[in-house]
Amino acid sequence: MRIFAIETSCDETSAAIIEDGVRVCSLVTTTQIAIHQKFGGVVPEVASRYHVEAITAVLAEALSEAKLKFEDIDAIAVTATPGLVGSLLVGIQAAKTLALLYDLPLIPVHHIAGHIYANALTQNFEFPLIALVVSGGHTELIYMKDHFDFELIGATLDDAAGEVYDKVARVLGYPYPGGPHIDRAAANNEATISFPKPKLESPYDFSFSGLKSAVLNYINSARQKGQALDNGDISASFQKIVIEELVGKTIRAAQAYGAKQVIVCGGVSANIGLRTQIESAVNQLSNVTLAMPELQYCGDNAAMIGAAAYYQYMQEIPLATMALDAKPNGKL
Ligand code: KG4
Ligand code: ZN
Repeated sequence: MRIFAIETSCDETSAAIIEDGVRVCSLVTTTQIAIHQKFGGVVPEVASRYHVEAITAVLAEALSEAKLKFEDIDAIAVTATPGLVGSLLVGIQAAKTLALLYDLPLIPVHHIAGHIYANALTQNFEFPLIALVVSGGHTELIYMKDHFDFELIGATLDDAAGEVYDKVARVLGYPYPGGPHIDRAAANNEATISFPKPKLESPYDFSFSGLKSAVLNYINSARQKGQALDNGDISASFQKIVIEELVGKTIRAAQAYGAKQVIVCGGVSANIGLRTQIESAVNQLSNVTLAMPELQYCGDNAAMIGAAAYYQYMQEIPLATMALDAKPNGKL
């Protein structure tokens, strides 16, 4: 089964053709990062405008890269929620047009399901599993007993991990998106500053706003005193707490829920420190495997939407009609 998948939920215009949920026949992504960099973050109206400009060329390129025609496609999939409503709409309109024109089933995919199923491109899922979703908009722990059976067991109560990475990076003078810059700065440095660890009653929820304020206060007060800032030390010290939180709670959930597999996904799953530490923590558990997406599938991309769509279709979850609309905050 060949699925033509489209993802436009934020600032990437992406299309892919996925065969049987695993084989990536093509993946074409254009990013608007350079456009949004001067604003220090994604500007929704600007994002949807650039999706409109890019979408047709991206769709055509995905087809030609795979050396296929629309007649070779069996279904259309599109990210329908969550995301920036004006951005989602561009992908949804394109998907509806193709589905109507070629009389194909239309599979509406949840963006977070897409991030989770980025792992299905390279690895079989082993249930029950615990998925840690860490991106610019989400930090969640999800328990899955089967394909497309999602139970949200924890989430951030304030900022998402990627969002905090981006804010700290911005104050340190790194361009948007700042996560990879902090990751690199942290890699070769000691963490000597003790920023406060979040304190929460609930075992699987996260909170990063207190940490963010502590780091920003540290930077501002050093600047006021005219002290030189050590970006490496600040990055390493900040990242140490974030990773301890993410890894600690994921492992705790994996043990409590008797998980056979731990999945990490979302833009922040590209973080080298996180990848290294979750790997060594999962290795210490017996009979638990780890799945992390290949780096090219960590951030937003349509290949993950095509993979999710395949399993969603197999589970016989209802298809979308031509009434499909963009939902900024749809539930998983
Ligand atoms: O999944 P994604 O591409 O978009 C959303 O759905 O939000 O995630 C983007 C987020 C950004 O906040 C970016 O800074 C972060 O992922 N990110 C990283 C790294 N690479 C991307 N954060 C930390 N370390 C990285 N290496
Ligand atoms: Zn995402």
